[in-house]
Amino acid sequence: MSDATGERTERSDFQATRDPALSEAADRGEANLLSYGELYRLWERQQWSVQDIDFSQDRVDWHERIAPAERRQRLYGLSSFFVGEQRVAAELGPMMRAAPDEEMRIFLCTQIADEARHVAFFNRFYDEVGILESGDLDGRLAETSEHLNPEFGELFDEMLSQRVDRLASEPEDLETLVEAVALYHMVIEGMLALTGQHFIISFNEEMGTLPGFVEGFQNVARDEHRHVAFGARFLREMAARDSRYGEAIMRTLGESAPVADGVLEPRFLREEGIEPIFGTVDETRAFAMKALERRLKVIGLAPAAA
Ligand SMILES: [Fe+2]
Ligand SMILES: [Fe+2]
Repeated sequence: MSDATGERTERSDFQATRDPALSEAADRGEANLLSYGELYRLWERQQWSVQDIDFSQDRVDWHERIAPAERRQRLYGLSSFFVGEQRVAAELGPMMRAAPDEEMRIFLCTQIADEARHVAFFNRFYDEVGILESGDLDGRLAETSEHLNPEFGELFDEMLSQRVDRLASEPEDLETLVEAVALYHMVIEGMLALTGQHFIISFNEEMGTLPGFVEGFQNVARDEHRHVAFGARFLREMAARDSRYGEAIMRTLGESAPVADGVLEPRFLREEGIEPIFGTVDETRAFAMKALERRLKVIGLAPAAA
């Protein structure tokens, strides 16, 4: 872990989310997770605005300081995020409606707003920096979708969508909600998004590139830690309520592990053997697994260190 990242995740606003992945105490299974009401109030305190970010230096960096081969790699990395944010924003509605308590539903409403803001962030970044051919949101989503690998589609458009579709017609199916939260909050946000964010932000900080993007992406990462903290609390409560739910969490993690692993492997590595500039696949995998392990300890589904 680079020094820059250590400083970032130790910032009081990141620590305020109480995401177990950011705390060494979680290795011992200790965590002081926020209540749903506290998570809501934290959301109110952690607002930010996409339209206030200045991308003028980013535009110079992208066109004049970043080499074409590197631009291509960066575009691949960003594409998964942009399309991923659009997918999770679209899928969260039925999950919110299926949540059993009002406090949970209120928090998930705030998360829908966050995911919409994350899509808007990428859209404005592409627009201001002048990265893609397309001039509107739908066109940019279609253009970036071409960079994704098949596992991305499997994870979002099959595994997540199937569960969300079921919740849309059977909102009382708590076991499917538990599976959907395991997939959404633990795998997609907790393992994939936060891992990619960690490596992309650290790389830009080390290179001194894309300051506007880094500023906004740090806010996105802080939001994701808050979302994952909700997921950890929800899954801990459900696992304690009935062992059937704990089994559903572990089953979902097992099913999605090989697919999630494939999402972390960029197409240019698989097809052309080019190692990612942001970090090797082994490094990203190790980072994602460490975060999952800490969260599972706090949820009560992995043995804690003494
Ligand atoms: Fe997001
Ligand atoms: Fe999120």
